[in-house]
Amino acid sequence: MKVLAINGSPHMDEGNTAIILNPFLEGMKEAGADVDLFFTKKLKIGPCNGDMSCWFKNPGKCGQDDDMQMLYPKLMEADVIVWATPVYYAGVTGPLKNLMDRQLPIHMQGELGSKMQKIVLVSTCGAWELSMFDPLLAQMKALYTRSNGNSDLAGALLRPMAEGMKEMIKAGELGLVDGIIQAVKEAGRQIVKEGRISEEIQRKVSKELMPRDAYYKAAKEMMEQVKKSMVQ
Ligand SMILES: Cc1cc2nc3c(=O)[nH]c(=O)nc-3n(C[C@H](O)[C@H](O)[C@H](O)COP(=O)(O)O)c2cc1C
Repeated sequence: MKVLAINGSPHMDEGNTAIILNPFLEGMKEAGADVDLFFTKKLKIGPCNGDMSCWFKNPGKCGQDDDMQMLYPKLMEADVIVWATPVYYAGVTGPLKNLMDRQLPIHMQGELGSKMQKIVLVSTCGAWELSMFDPLLAQMKALYTRSNGNSDLAGALLRPMAEGMKEMIKAGELGLVDGIIQAVKEAGRQIVKEGRISEEIQRKVSKELMPRDAYYKAAKEMMEQVKKSMVQ
């Protein structure tokens, strides 16, 4: 099974998104998948210029000569595509959106043949509320439904309160966080073996780490400290 994962966080392997993405990819590798990971920050990918030449003038070909040319075959060959992103203004990051928009040449009718790809969303956000992911999830569901084409949303690993999770790891408070990481790894094994991530595992990944008021109080204190350290 070929897996293509794209991490759209500017923090790459040091970010909150990688805290969830990396054990998910490990779980998939453990179950035998062949995993390729790219960071949008390291790729040169411009925005789609919208001229539709990839549909009408040169069908299936994008005229822009950048890193998308290297990614097109990988996007077509993948059995599983993992979109990993922090929530930025209720959506994916700009560089990841550019990459997603540039898929137009391979989404010409029939280009993927009868191939059915699995899509997984991995996302983290600063808010306590799980509903912060609703717009992103709605976008993924609209794009990836079996009845709509060649792709099927096989699961979403959504981690709210991600800044809190990072602080808990720094403070060595690993109990609850370890449960989340184990669930993420299991999600990786599950998608390879069963082709889907169960609702139960997805719920475990999004599990509450602390009450809402306590989270926002701690977040406010943390931001004041960061601000002080930046102006010193
Ligand atoms: C420009 C920007 C926009 C953001 N927008 C949101 C948002 O709409 N909702 C939210 O809960 N968090 C938002 N965040 C917080 C990030 O989603 C959160 O810190 C995330 O875990 C960062 O992941 P990373 O470390 O992998 O980059 C935003 C952060 C930035 C820098």
